[in-house]
Amino acid sequence: MLNFVKGILSTLAALLALIAVSLGIASVGADVKPSRIEHWIATAELNTAVARHAKGLQNPVPLTDENLLVGVRLYHQHCASCHGTSDGQPAGFAQGFYIKAPQFAINGVENDPENVLFWEAAHGIRFTPMPAFKNTMPDEDLWKISMFLKRMDKLPSAVDAAWEKLPSASPAI
Ligand code: HEC
Repeated sequence: MLNFVKGILSTLAALLALIAVSLGIASVGADVKPSRIEHWIATAELNTAVARHAKGLQNPVPLTDENLLVGVRLYHQHCASCHGTSDGQPAGFAQGFYIKAPQFAINGVENDPENVLFWEAAHGIRFTPMPAFKNTMPDEDLWKISMFLKRMDKLPSAVDAAWEKLPSASPAI
């Protein structure tokens, strides 16, 4: 019964959101936070869709300190401006996103499967600033970054030292 009521309420919420969008009521500026309904619909879809698409993908890159170190270096080049380094501060432009990029030093993604991290980096996340890297970076590099992100909380000491040494992405520091 509870699920039935919940179903009706979510359908109504989705319809209201759709009406707001089609009438142009919803704001489209990046300086306004999306509504809770908008956020809820988008995240529910995102989690299910990514899990479905990432299914069956397996990391072909062997887990070695060397590959993890390459992952740290590539992360610094391609991801740190938005996701920060160990101080958890993004670059100036990334502070203007209406959908904030998670700061991996603070909100890590160690609980996500490696193939999910790979998929998100390769394909990006629609309607957010998260870009698709599959046409500009080889799969192998994306797997090395995913391997590093998955283990950020338990890196071998040499890799951890390299990560801690990365300069801040923030202009204020
Ligand atoms: C231009 C900014 C930008 C760059 C560069 C960027 N990201 Fe993102 N990324 C984002 C934003 C914003 C989100 C949050 C999207 C959302 O909330 O759905 C995100 C989300 C993610 C997520 C999902 C996090 C979670 O909590 O589930 C992963 C994984 C990710 N990015 C990996 C990467 C990797 C790996 C790179 C580099 C190869 C990268 N990103 C580069 C902006 C960026």
